[in-house]
Amino acid sequence: MTVSRTETYPLVTEADIVVVRREAKIWAAQLGFGLVDQTKLVTACSELARNTIVYGGGGTMIMEALDVPPRKGLRLIFEDHGPGIADLDLALTDGYTSGGGMGLGLTGARRLCNEFDIVTAPGAGTKVTVARWK
Ligand SMILES: Nc1ncnc2c1ncn2[C@@H]1O[C@H](COP(=O)(O)OP(=O)(O)OP(=O)(O)O)[C@@H](O)[C@H]1O
Ligand SMILES: [Mg+2]
Repeated sequence: MTVSRTETYPLVTEADIVVVRREAKIWAAQLGFGLVDQTKLVTACSELARNTIVYGGGGTMIMEALDVPPRKGLRLIFEDHGPGIADLDLALTDGYTSGGGMGLGLTGARRLCNEFDIVTAPGAGTKVTVARWK
């Protein structure tokens, strides 16, 4: 697999979410994703970016354009050094929130992407990786 392009974005403020949403849509369009797929990626991006800021205390998103001929993909990696997630099964339950949200961000992002992975531990931060293939 070739990573044909990569970029790192800060995730600290609300304005940073606007930037990564816009960039994800642009990259997805350039890779040839249709509007529906672009919207799925942007929605997942938005939810995970918000979690990084709200629960992770801020962090970064790495975006990677993937090339596995004849397929193209977009991978998003969200990383923070916040408190981590103590009970991952609980966090991945529809409707569970520790912060007065809807509890649908993580599960929604998982459904909207083809690949979904979380590495986290209490005190060790959180790394969420998603990818969608065309
Ligand atoms: N980066 C993170 N660091 C620490 N905890 C997290 C992180 N991301 C998610 N969580 C935990 O997982 C829970 C579920 O996240 P999820 O995005 O599904 O729901 P939510 O953010 O609470 O609500 P919603 O996204 O629907 O507004 C959060 O309430 C939080 O406890
Ligand atoms: Mg959320």
